[in-house]
Amino acid sequence: MPQNLEVIILAAGLGTRMKSATVKVLHRAAGRPIIEYVLDLAADVSDQPPVVIVGHQREAVQKTIGNRARFAVQEQQLGTGHAVLQAAGALEGAKDRRILILSGDVPLTRPATLKKLIERHELERNALTLLTMKPDDPAMYGRIVRDKDDAVVKIVEAKDANAEEKKIGEVNAGIYIFNGEDLFKNLRNLSTNNAQGEYYLTDLLAVLRSQGQRVGAVVADDPAEAIGVNSRSELATVESVIQQRVVDRLMSEGVTFRNPATVVIDSTVTIGADTVVYPFVTLEGMTRIGEGCVVEPGVHLINTKVGDDVHLKTGTVADDSTIEDEASVGPYAHLRPGTHLGKHVKVGNFVETKKAVFGEGAKASHLSYIGDAEIGKDVNIGAGTITCNYDGVNKNKTILEDGVFIGSDTQLVAPVRVGQGAYVGAGSTITKDVPADALALSRTPQKVIPGWATRRREGLKKRE
Ligand code: UD1
Ligand code: CA
Repeated sequence: MPQNLEVIILAAGLGTRMKSATVKVLHRAAGRPIIEYVLDLAADVSDQPPVVIVGHQREAVQKTIGNRARFAVQEQQLGTGHAVLQAAGALEGAKDRRILILSGDVPLTRPATLKKLIERHELERNALTLLTMKPDDPAMYGRIVRDKDDAVVKIVEAKDANAEEKKIGEVNAGIYIFNGEDLFKNLRNLSTNNAQGEYYLTDLLAVLRSQGQRVGAVVADDPAEAIGVNSRSELATVESVIQQRVVDRLMSEGVTFRNPATVVIDSTVTIGADTVVYPFVTLEGMTRIGEGCVVEPGVHLINTKVGDDVHLKTGTVADDSTIEDEASVGPYAHLRPGTHLGKHVKVGNFVETKKAVFGEGAKASHLSYIGDAEIGKDVNIGAGTITCNYDGVNKNKTILEDGVFIGSDTQLVAPVRVGQGAYVGAGSTITKDVPADALALSRTPQKVIPGWATRRREGLKKRE
């Protein structure tokens, strides 16, 4: 890591083209605000905390970044050159240092590319070395003008470019290394004589050249590395590139994706080897999946921890939950926050859980609601069982001790406790605690009237 490198990140603009109430750098791609990817990048190449230029919604931006950076405020957004100048105070002692400028809205650059840029800067003894790229569509990027010797002579912003210049395919990625002294001295002399009436950082290139200083450029191998987020469409592109990278890394670590293009995955998610992910799965936040799991189509996990050899069947949704090894969930189960399924637990189709802890080997296989509950080991909950946890005012708890058997279609009116090994007969409404090893039954006895149906049919015939 070069010791003499300071980093400035530009993040004061609102991002008008996003058409959003939220400042651009806080828009999320693959689960993280885009500025965070840029902060990671800065940390990869410099051990100095970067100076982030903030302006629009600066409280929110500073809150997201916290102590990962120093801040300089740009009160009015007068252009990228003006933005960099705001760091002059913070970097006062940095005259002899190299200054890497990153844009808060360019999150996909790889550390290796920045290292190449830094090396080239030193090797060629440049005053400025910038990153360029050749995207399929040069769009609104600044055009790189080279002379007949292929030297970079100036950058022309798309809005200022003439028809000839517009055709240039090489564009400015918005990533630069300057020598500290050259940067701050010349920034003060920029003018706003351009289409946008702004102080363009990009004008420094021609200024340095006119002083006889050396300027170099590195062309990014992969134009995706320099995609800037200026619109929702570019945000979507950036998100898909990040996800592609995440999926590629996970595959290299031993995860199978049956159709990776259909999987939505945050960059914060981890998955263990030999797990198989089916199509149309969404994995968000701090979700952690262990080894050897099967994650079937339509599974949606948010901040959920999954152990090893777990089977998540089609359509299962889990939020803020924990699922231990060898459990099986779904199809179409809904684990709401505070659910904890122990080892070998089975939660079957159309079962909803909330703040429910299931002991090892417990089962709720069909059509149940289990909320605010403690379920012991090897408890068997029959089809259609529900915990009546809410009395209109308070949420009350249901406790089923180890080995309890709950017959189908039981209502457990909480607060209620069923003691260890007890049985509850099907169709019961349990309003009182059941002692260990007892049988509780609360249904009305069955009545049978022989021949009733025959007599009814005959009566109907006579009326015809
Ligand atoms: C800029 C470059 C362009 C380059 C492109 C690459 C200039 C004049 N143009 O254009 O050559 O191809 O980036 O992505 O530099 N910002 C501030 N304060 C300001 C203005 C901008 O902090 O007063 C910040 C923005 O928040 C953003 C970054 O600087 O993070 C770039 O600004 P933006 O307006 O997006 O510049 P581009 O038009 O993309
Ligand atoms: Ca931009």
